[in-house]
Amino acid sequence: MEKNKEIVLSGIRPTGFLHLGNYYGALKNWARMQYDYTCYFFIADWHSLTTHADTRELKEITRRLVAELIAGGLDPDLCTIYAQSDIPEIPELYMYLNMLAYKGELEKTVTFKEKARKQPENINAGLLTYPVLQAADILIHRAHYVPVGKDQEQHIEMTRNFAERFNHRYGEVFPVPRAFSYTEDLVKILSLDGSGKMSKSEQQMNTIYLIDDDDLIRKKIMKAKTDQGPASPDSKKPEYIQGLFTLLGLVSSPDIVEKFEYDFNHCQIRYGDMKKQLAEDMIRFVRPIREKAAALQNDLKQIDDLMAKGAAKARISAAATLTAVRKALGFKYH
Ligand code: TRP
Repeated sequence: MEKNKEIVLSGIRPTGFLHLGNYYGALKNWARMQYDYTCYFFIADWHSLTTHADTRELKEITRRLVAELIAGGLDPDLCTIYAQSDIPEIPELYMYLNMLAYKGELEKTVTFKEKARKQPENINAGLLTYPVLQAADILIHRAHYVPVGKDQEQHIEMTRNFAERFNHRYGEVFPVPRAFSYTEDLVKILSLDGSGKMSKSEQQMNTIYLIDDDDLIRKKIMKAKTDQGPASPDSKKPEYIQGLFTLLGLVSSPDIVEKFEYDFNHCQIRYGDMKKQLAEDMIRFVRPIREKAAALQNDLKQIDDLMAKGAAKARISAAATLTAVRKALGFKYH
């Protein structure tokens, strides 16, 4: 790790399998950043307790995610990959930040309100302070940039507020982090039925996972929603058709995209042909990732070693921050 590079950090919750939306919305971006920044990428396994109290599958899902992240482009020699629960410095910082977070602002958070609505029987304090734990994740490495999607921007804004409050009250310890992405790469991947974003846990047949086998990919794409085709030349594409063209643009060659654009604009498109082409190109894209992830998962020792190394690296940075935090707060008796 080079000294004076800026610091990038992001995390992902261990729920479900990685899918195309995660790849194009996050992972591809992260993989690019590892060359330009000192990067920390982690699995937010503590965060998952706010919504999933059952921990029986957590270990398996977390290891699998690590394998998928590496198969999808993260290089453990270039970035630091770890599980949140391996970093005991995080909860101490979380506690300090909790004293700087107000009940009112936490209750107003969009993600809190949504989750509270979804699980009215379990509106636990961890759910309320979820953004504070996330702020601790970010600030523990004194990160400058946090590559996240739109839905996380409010959490980053709150992190900025907590960092500023801390700095103001106790002295400058934290850079004030910013949400960041290589914007030109941010594509919105739609669910195959065109009903909103591709998502991790819902609608498995409308989501392409990075571990789907060839036949399943074919089946999902052939079932994707289409219609009779446009009635007049140069029509505007309905969302579900645009979604398929977006995928085509990501995995097929430009001449293929151009051909189907032409066919669409001249009202001669055959969606069956387009989907067949898309399926084959998608398979070509997914296969190497799936195979690499599977190979890694067959070698649990390698994953565990890798996670241990990542945790050790992350703890060096976390411990240094915590020392600075304790010093600023005046908790240093001897
Ligand atoms: N809340 C993020 C999500 O649901 C996951 C996350 C936890 C995270 N801690 C983070 C993302 C720190 C970025 C930085 O996607």
